Amino acid sequence: MPMIQTINLTKRYGELMALSNLNLEIERGDCFGFIGPNGAGKTTCIKILSTLLKPTWGEARIDGLSVGPVNARQVRSVIGYVPDYFGSYDNMVVQEYLEFFAASYNIHGDKRKQVIGDVLDLTDLAYKIDAEVNSLSRGMQQRLSVARVLLHDPKVLLLDEPASGLDPRARIEMRELLKELHRMGKTILISSHILLELADLCNRVGIIEQGELKYNGTMQDILDRAQSGAVLHVAVTQRTEQAAQLISQLPGVTAADITNNHIRITVAPDHAGHQHTAAIAQKLVTEGYALTRLEEEKVNLESAFMRLTKGLVQ
Ligand SMILES: Nc1ncnc2c1ncn2[C@@H]1O[C@H](COP(=O)(O)OP(=O)(O)OP(=O)(O)O)[C@@H](O)[C@H]1O
Ligand SMILES: [Mg+2]
Repeated sequence: MPMIQTINLTKRYGELMALSNLNLEIERGDCFGFIGPNGAGKTTCIKILSTLLKPTWGEARIDGLSVGPVNARQVRSVIGYVPDYFGSYDNMVVQEYLEFFAASYNIHGDKRKQVIGDVLDLTDLAYKIDAEVNSLSRGMQQRLSVARVLLHDPKVLLLDEPASGLDPRARIEMRELLKELHRMGKTILISSHILLELADLCNRVGIIEQGELKYNGTMQDILDRAQSGAVLHVAVTQRTEQAAQLISQLPGVTAADITNNHIRITVAPDHAGHQHTAAIAQKLVTEGYALTRLEEEKVNLESAFMRLTKGLVQ
């Protein structure tokens, strides 16, 4: 049984399909990256999973429980939801803030003290226990937001862009914290605009666009896809045109064009790789060409991911 499951989950706002027949399965212990541009439907989905929004149709399940009014209380005990904004009350200090939420989860007495100490240690906020919540930096507030949802030790964490608005260092700290929680066995769903940012955190990825799931698979698979479709640059001492002609007929080569006195070779994704590059070089040498340049174009991961998340993934 998956830890998180959505079955044809759909949310309409009038004519607008914020979520359209979304089918997700996230297994126990997975860290699932939910990637999509602004307005894709990430928050809508996470809010439904968090019991805060009712779907138009379809169903969401968490730990086998159908998410809805009947099971809301039970579902909430299993999840920790970190929203994309941070709300607090004026003049509240970190200690009071956590006490307040611990009490709302019925955690009392020594247990409460212990738990608050634990979550503060885990999120590296112990030294801010007496600081006003509103005086914390955005990065600290985000960590406090995570600390808050850990109080009741939920199995599932639903995080809506926890790294947005953080500087690079705070992003790394947040990522380290989430890695630690993943290691502790939590099942995590985390949304982001940027796939690359989740590359070393998540083992699975879903890409959503205009309410539809465009891709669902392993992080490794999408990394491979982003890096494939390689481009090679080759130069030979003479007969460049014949060399280009020869290369264009090799398996896996989709184009071999002459630009600036060298040959620019595009290789199909399923052929790209060092071995294929070596095979092209070998063929040219065997045919009597002298190579003066052989270069694999460096893949710009950022732009490759942009391409993938722009709907080229089928
Ligand atoms: N209460 C609402 N009423 C009408 N439309 C809404 C409402 N909430 C969300 N939407 C629309 O649903 C779509 C999905 O919004 P959602 O907030 O889920 O996207 P998102 O992926 O979280 O985007 P972002 O990256 O900007 O946070 C958007 O077109 C949005 O305008
Ligand atoms: Mg959102």
